[in-house]
Amino acid sequence: MPRIRVVGGQRLAGQISISGAKNAALPLMAASLLTDETLTLENLPRLADIATLSSLLEHHGVAIEVNGGDGPNKGRVAHFHAADIVDTTAPYDLVRKMRASVLVLGPILARCGEARVSQPGGCAIGTRPVDLHLKGLQELGAEIELDGGYIEARAPNGLVGGQVVFPFVSVGATENLMMAAALAKGRTTLLNAAREPEVQDLGHCLQAMGAQIEGIGTDTITIDGVEALHGAVHSVLPDRIETGTFAAAAAITGGDVELLGADLTHIGSFVDVMKAAGISMEPTDAGIRVVAINGRVAGVDAMTEPYPGFPTDLQAQFMALMTVADGAAMVTETIFENRFMHVPELARMGANITLHGGSALVRGVERLTGAPVMATDLRASVSLVLAGLAAEGETIVNRVYHLDRGYERVEEKLAACGADIERIWD
Ligand code: EPZ
Repeated sequence: MPRIRVVGGQRLAGQISISGAKNAALPLMAASLLTDETLTLENLPRLADIATLSSLLEHHGVAIEVNGGDGPNKGRVAHFHAADIVDTTAPYDLVRKMRASVLVLGPILARCGEARVSQPGGCAIGTRPVDLHLKGLQELGAEIELDGGYIEARAPNGLVGGQVVFPFVSVGATENLMMAAALAKGRTTLLNAAREPEVQDLGHCLQAMGAQIEGIGTDTITIDGVEALHGAVHSVLPDRIETGTFAAAAAITGGDVELLGADLTHIGSFVDVMKAAGISMEPTDAGIRVVAINGRVAGVDAMTEPYPGFPTDLQAQFMALMTVADGAAMVTETIFENRFMHVPELARMGANITLHGGSALVRGVERLTGAPVMATDLRASVSLVLAGLAAEGETIVNRVYHLDRGYERVEEKLAACGADIERIWD
């Protein structure tokens, strides 16, 4: 099983290309199920999660053709063609690999009048139920039963628009409902909808496919269902979480890195916190330049919130940065109940972190020391790589398959900026 070896202490300098966003690409790919015409997605990242969803889509009958992306900085172009949905069941073996598979539920139900999707299980960061997805679809007239570990949804006469009030913000439920409502009869209103850039990207792609959607990027989204959607060409937005991750990498090494293709407007709250910590993030013609201006970063508090708040998907990386800050930082997680799996691993590298419920008090230390550590989920694993970049000596990150789910060639991108990092295969 591959591992990543990092020897810390190198200052990062240079350029890193930001890939297409995983969390935008996944719902966009699921949207291809809504039409019998071809949906072309440009700037598709090369990731394990993309391959997993591709397998599921192929199982449902989607023909996928991928070209391009041979150069190190080129996103791929992929054509998704769901001429017929040949199977409306998303089986356990495919769904269990990735929770985002539940995003096929809305589109298949809307297009075929029935869908059977394995219930996604819990995962390392929390129990993560899908009740909001199901309640929302019920508001659109779906009959839903849970049987033998499967969600069985039926709408034999088609879905009918309705009002869905989310009790709290859910990215995936908003996406599933937007896709389902696009083909429902009449008007659907989603209240307390998610505003994440990835949700907006899906909304814009659905519009390009002929969907009638208003309020994208606000907490009230209105969708007037149409008879059919058509093909479209859409470019996946740059990955704001990869952007924030490499910004933290530059910062933790006291570096100066330009993130090519990155978009500052998507990460405002993160930029504010980074600035308070003494890191400059300024737009350039090609992306964002990240510079550690004052040497050692200052300890700053951060609390995760739905967009436009500080993203939960950057909490672990930011905490890694705070472990070597001058002063203390309170990092509070409000989205997931168990997203501190990186804390004991960072502690093995010398970090001083005390957990109090949903908050972690991080007291900055002068330096971390390299150690063998274990990745537990995607963002936790990359936080260990960041810590390794700043640590004295060698860090070996085990179980890097978590990392490959969401980061494209992370070791190559960091090595190109001077990091001493490699993938080892023993
Ligand atoms: C998306 O997950 C992202 N995944 C996650 O990224 C991200 O952490 C999360 O949004 C929050 O920003 C993808 O886009 C594929 P939610 P999602 O529904 O849609 C609870 C990463 O590292 N909830 O917004 O599953 C849920 O348990 C990942 O790339 C319910 O209780 O997140 C959580 O506590 C991990 N019932 C909260 O809501 C539901 O029906 C927010 O979850 C749905 C969600």
